[in-house]
Amino acid sequence: MDDRTPAQSRVEMTQIVMPSHMNYRGSLFGGIVVQWIDVCAAVSAMRHAGGGNTVTASIDRLDFLSPIHLGDVVILQSQVNYAGRTSMEIGCRVESEDPATGMRRYCTKAYLTFVALDDASRPREIAPLSPETETEKRRYADALRRREERLASRRSLLPR
Ligand SMILES: CC(C)(COP(=O)(O)OP(=O)(O)OC[C@H]1O[C@@H](n2cnc3c(N)ncnc32)[C@H](O)[C@@H]1OP(=O)(O)O)[C@@H](O)C(=O)NCCC(=O)NCCS
Repeated sequence: MDDRTPAQSRVEMTQIVMPSHMNYRGSLFGGIVVQWIDVCAAVSAMRHAGGGNTVTASIDRLDFLSPIHLGDVVILQSQVNYAGRTSMEIGCRVESEDPATGMRRYCTKAYLTFVALDDASRPREIAPLSPETETEKRRYADALRRREERLASRRSLLPR
């Protein structure tokens, strides 16, 4: 299978915050942001995996650093940071934009692991990732470290 680059899985997704997205305190409901992150990352995963079925295996800790308001534009950007045999880490960055001023605010970033599945819903092999730029190489190394931590904590979750 030919290597793929992070750029080949890059996705930018834009949303407008509508009344149905709000929590009772008047800011964007966190669960909606998680849903948008999952969709954006899923498209990156599908691009890397060459289509077919992919599932979310895990989402790392999320911190929401600034509230997002009604009418704001939300911009999500994702790409594959690391690919293993059947799984891949996707990084997704979320910013909000005030349409009146154009000012952007960093809201959060997320790391998700997706697994590619075959027709029988078994993990299926994916292409290796070839990072090209210095940033992509740094992200690859960081993702490899996070993968080890994730798999160690997963082992502790499994029933004995
Ligand atoms: C994710 C899932 C396919 C893994 O299946 P599995 O039989 O446990 O697969 P394996 O143990 O062989 O692991 C397959 C790959 O996934 C990775 N993986 C599995 N669970 C993981 C987790 N919780 N976090 C990170 N990576 C994980 C493994 O490291 C392995 O990666 P590699 O091939 O790149 O080395 C399975 O647990 C599943 O179907 N979960 C439900 C997914 C789902 O429905 N998501 C939607 C939200 S509910």
